[in-house]
Amino acid sequence: MTAQELRRLFIEFFKEKGHKEIASASLLPENDPSVLFTTAGMHPLIPYLLGEKHPLGNRLVNVQKCVRTCDIDEVGDPNHCTFFEMLGNWSLGDYFKAESIAMSFEFLTTRLSIPIKKLAVTVFEGDDGVPRDMEAYQLWRKQGLSESQIFFYGRDENWWGPAGITGPCGPDTEIFFDTGKPKCSDLCSPACHCGKYVEIWNNVFMEYNKNADGSYSMLLQKNVDTGMGFERVLAIINDVDSVYKTELFLPLISKLKELTGIELNPDNERQYRIICEHTRAVTFILGDPKAIAPSNTEQGYIVRRLIRKAIRYSKNLFGQNVIVDLAKTVIQQYGDIYPELEHNKDFIISEIEKESVTFEKTLDLGLKRAEKYFAALGEERVLDGDSAFKLYDTFGFPLELTEELAREKGFTVDLDRFKKRFTEHQELSRKGAEAKFKGGMADNSEQTTKLHTATHLLDGALRKVLGDTVFQRGSNITSKRLRFDFSFSRKLTKDELNKVSDIVNEAIKKDIPVICDEMSVEEAKRYGAIGVFDDKYGSTVKVYTIEGYSKEICGGPHASRTGELKSFAILKEESSSAGVRRIKAVIG
Ligand code: SER
Repeated sequence: MTAQELRRLFIEFFKEKGHKEIASASLLPENDPSVLFTTAGMHPLIPYLLGEKHPLGNRLVNVQKCVRTCDIDEVGDPNHCTFFEMLGNWSLGDYFKAESIAMSFEFLTTRLSIPIKKLAVTVFEGDDGVPRDMEAYQLWRKQGLSESQIFFYGRDENWWGPAGITGPCGPDTEIFFDTGKPKCSDLCSPACHCGKYVEIWNNVFMEYNKNADGSYSMLLQKNVDTGMGFERVLAIINDVDSVYKTELFLPLISKLKELTGIELNPDNERQYRIICEHTRAVTFILGDPKAIAPSNTEQGYIVRRLIRKAIRYSKNLFGQNVIVDLAKTVIQQYGDIYPELEHNKDFIISEIEKESVTFEKTLDLGLKRAEKYFAALGEERVLDGDSAFKLYDTFGFPLELTEELAREKGFTVDLDRFKKRFTEHQELSRKGAEAKFKGGMADNSEQTTKLHTATHLLDGALRKVLGDTVFQRGSNITSKRLRFDFSFSRKLTKDELNKVSDIVNEAIKKDIPVICDEMSVEEAKRYGAIGVFDDKYGSTVKVYTIEGYSKEICGGPHASRTGELKSFAILKEESSSAGVRRIKAVIG
């Protein structure tokens, strides 16, 4: 079966079951500020999972392009990718477990003709908060799965979401393909990574919402959110043991051979695959209509890391950087299905070219320098953070690249010291930027800083009045006013608006200090801060606290005390887009 046949088969099957097809959304999430990329088909649907009416109804299906950086170190094994397509179907408060399991089973066994005995499934075993999912177990039994094909696991394996800190989540049932390989041990099961079981589909029974304080509440409706790994299923139904052996990667592998004359073999397989996979991912991210370019922050930093890793392997394996030509093949291969790649071809190519020029200038020198550092290492086998920072700052080596070089030699990197140097460096750049900004614009700068603090107070007040399904969707500050977009499904009442501005004014009156702390992402989560969590580099974040009113991850700058804002007034509350409201407000 071809890739396009599989995409259509999935869509048509769910259309027969009353689902409406929706387009693949951008890789840069619009409705979920808590993640850097769209990592699953559910991201663009968050408002609808929370109860907003979807214009196309309550059964949806699509093929969604996704990026997940959490698996980056796994790329190169048979089945992991950073970019992948996800086949998904959703029930927005319509059908639940019985229909969802029945439909998945029917699709796998009748449309893809996977024999029942090749399936294994996992089900939530229950804990203090949520009971064991005996319903899902019974439903699988009813489909003909034997007891030995059904495994129970806890939250680590069988609970999905939220994708960020807050949002919809729930127990899931995961479907695995049993490759038929022998068990690696008596304990071998779908949770094992030996390769016997390949996870192909995840059906999440999304009836909970995780709140910022870590508690769970029931969603307004019971949803189903499923996601199937397109590349993996394509490999399975074509009887090959790796996604890299499907038509999605074979043209890239042939292109590399044609460009370099070097064949893929067991010794270079991992690097060969990484070059293809990262180039494909980068092409899709750069080709997204939102035009993210390589940079040192957020999504741009991920693009930079992926390109630089691919370049390093390309130079290592082939003695040359062939990424640009490979990206052209990706565009050719996917252009029909994802026309944005053709449309943004010039941007994709020129950004990869620019990044290549910059990185190649320092790559060889940096590698030599790294060798020198490693050669000088003593018994402790730890590269000091100052050297790692030098490799970053002077030679453009992402920390992960240095870590990988170290790992190849059996060394580690002193991450604490690196992060300290990195944070100091960021602080210096920030001060530099503020100094530039202040030249001739002192009033504006002060005013926008205060409005920024007012935005945090407003965010906190909205959550107090409307509940913590409210989260930021956008913010824009000029010297005159703040504009704040947030998720909420209806117009606010006069009473609610009054309550919100009263809370902000109360906080201003109390003249509370605005305190900035640096902490790890984990600590920020535990602390209950809201904001964007991601796995980006230097995993320390700044958290601004206005005691009793706001705890938010943010780069600053802010007023020192709330009293500086003097007073606060809402000018306007209106709709911004479906499920998103907009408030304009002033201070002073
Ligand atoms: N959101 C779930 C997942 O990513 C199902 O799509 O696995």
